Amino acid sequence: MKGKFITFEGIDGAGKSSHVDWLADYLRQRGKVVHITREPGGTALGEKLRELLLNQAMHLETETLLMFAARREHLAELIEPALARGEWVVCDRFSDATYAYQGGGRGLDRAKFLALEHWVHEHLQPDLTLLFDLPLDVARERIVRAHRVLDKFEQERVDFHDRVRQAYLERASGNPSRIRVVNAENSIDHIRKQLEKIVLTIC
Ligand code: TMP
Repeated sequence: MKGKFITFEGIDGAGKSSHVDWLADYLRQRGKVVHITREPGGTALGEKLRELLLNQAMHLETETLLMFAARREHLAELIEPALARGEWVVCDRFSDATYAYQGGGRGLDRAKFLALEHWVHEHLQPDLTLLFDLPLDVARERIVRAHRVLDKFEQERVDFHDRVRQAYLERASGNPSRIRVVNAENSIDHIRKQLEKIVLTIC
């Protein structure tokens, strides 16, 4: 029996990461074996690439290729073997992030995105993607309130983040059964109840 692959997505400051651990615990209580992971990252090599990707300026195509290189490693080392064993994988970002950030945000040619997606995971898409959506000014305020050093993407201008948000919403409207939009302005309790309901549809 194949396991399930759930991804979390959203603009920076959407607060998705705080729900990843909660969802994994919820699934474990229901008897699932669950791996929590993230992109870019999730493997020793992927975490090294993450360090570069989040801090080093580079050509758009270099950035995109490194995102997919880290993803190929992540799939081979962790995601595909876990799913084959019937285990669940909860991943903080996946290819929808490349579509939104490199495609929407930076203007990467869609054909190049599709070619890489096809190459790296032709036969695999998440079973469920939770897209945390909220207005840009609310997301920005959350980032500022966190008082930490901002990475390369968080330092981008508001119009970049607006294009990322629009690309995510467009991707969601093209894949309505896989990508479920969650209003990230709602309270934590409200969001958890909604996540519970959505996730039960694939349990
Ligand atoms: P995180 O802070 O949510 O862990 O995400 C790291 C940053 O990397 C975030 O700003 C989005 C960006 N990113 C991309 O630009 N493309 C991608 O394919 C992925 C996975 C992340």
